[in-house]
Amino acid sequence: MSRSASPLLHPFSRRRFLRAMGTFAGGVAFAPQLLAGCGGSSGSEAAVPLTVDPSVPWWLQNNFGPVSGEVEAFDLHVEGRLPPELNGLYARNGSNPQSGASQHWFLGDGMLHGVQLQAGRALWYRSRYVRTPLYEQGLDIDDIGAPLGPNNQANVSLVHHGGRLLTSGEVGAPFRIDPRDLGTIGVHTFDGRLNTSFTAHPKIDPATGNMHFFGYFFVPPYLTYHVADPSGAIVHSQEIPVTAGTMIHSFAITDRDVIFWELPVLFDIGAIGTGGGFPFGWDASYGARIGILPLGGNGDQIRWVEIDPCYVFHELNAHREGDDVVIDVSRHDFMMNGERFGSDPLHVHRWRVSTAGSSLTFRDERVVDRGLEFPVHDRRFTGRPTRHGWFTVARDHPDTLDFGGVAHLDYATGDLRTWDPGPNRHIGETFFVPGGAGEGEGWLMTFTYDHARDTSSFLVLEAQDVEAGPVAEVSLPRRVPYGFHGIWVPEA
Ligand SMILES: [Fe+2]
Repeated sequence: MSRSASPLLHPFSRRRFLRAMGTFAGGVAFAPQLLAGCGGSSGSEAAVPLTVDPSVPWWLQNNFGPVSGEVEAFDLHVEGRLPPELNGLYARNGSNPQSGASQHWFLGDGMLHGVQLQAGRALWYRSRYVRTPLYEQGLDIDDIGAPLGPNNQANVSLVHHGGRLLTSGEVGAPFRIDPRDLGTIGVHTFDGRLNTSFTAHPKIDPATGNMHFFGYFFVPPYLTYHVADPSGAIVHSQEIPVTAGTMIHSFAITDRDVIFWELPVLFDIGAIGTGGGFPFGWDASYGARIGILPLGGNGDQIRWVEIDPCYVFHELNAHREGDDVVIDVSRHDFMMNGERFGSDPLHVHRWRVSTAGSSLTFRDERVVDRGLEFPVHDRRFTGRPTRHGWFTVARDHPDTLDFGGVAHLDYATGDLRTWDPGPNRHIGETFFVPGGAGEGEGWLMTFTYDHARDTSSFLVLEAQDVEAGPVAEVSLPRRVPYGFHGIWVPEA
């Protein structure tokens, strides 16, 4: 399969691309205003107002703003007790424009923040840029028009598979990272076999070690499914037939299925060059659908079921129950819908697709009537039933995103337990790290930021006792800006 077109070959307006990303950004900016209550505050400190300068873009101030240059520090101070069995690297990706400014939060150079743990000690913290061609040449995304291949900022997530630690920028090729110091080894093309973009959310089947992933793009082929074997070699690539370029941020697997959701946030290629409209936008007339194909299957085996228009960035996990495919998601009622974009609440839903009949049938159940995002599961059970889910909650703020605490949802009992870091502290996405044999037995890791002190620390929580707060807090030499997705890389 070869790419027949690319944005670089298309008469693609760079201004329009940036406006598109701005639209995406706006949705994220508005969504947290509607995230209802995130648990009681556990902080005893006096609240210091979080002020926002309206003359400065929200992503260039407070803890969204970039830090200058790279930092490393060794033998970090630990409050509490780091579980001694945690030997490895926690690293998280994010956007940090080296120029100090960017067109949007999503358009800065990728910067990794890592903490190395060993036998109860925090050996080091490092912040390191991903050495992409854009970074090395001091270019911004608007200098090249649109991302493609190595020309992306590699700033969304980290993936560990086949003995390789990779970044993902979602809209281009990944970069391989050295976990010993977060240095960039180079762009990773899977020996030249990756001819699409590389999602920020691949799924590794715990039974086979295969990595299932996809690339979506703005022009055909819009969606391509790939499988890499446990060594990291791409062994299967299939175009998934869809009729338009939609923003597909994640997907899911079960032990038998691959599940895509094609939702009506469209890249409007018809608007390119016409001077009107946003290239990305909500278009409910496109409809919304879930597609299911056999794990490792061919594109023409996909079966679709129509659902009500909505948007889902992230699933918690998915599994089989007999003929049913069950997918747990953070569901937004809509996304990128002009002024109203993101202004409806999001909720945790359970989708259920029956595969028994000649055509698929769909049911949708609201599980939690409050807004929770960045769902996290125990990846030893990816594609299998999981009882435990963790989420990041956000506080209401009229002028900026404000990430709040941690929520633990027990799907067996329906209990939702939260930890709030206090009025002056904020967290990002958590990551689950196994600490016992059973599903959900382990630890959560995340960075926190204190806006009263302008400091950050690294936190470890007991995954099934988040209400107790961190069991360990590692002081960091400098604040860690809010970012996107992280990972734990156990020591080999
Ligand atoms: Fe994501």
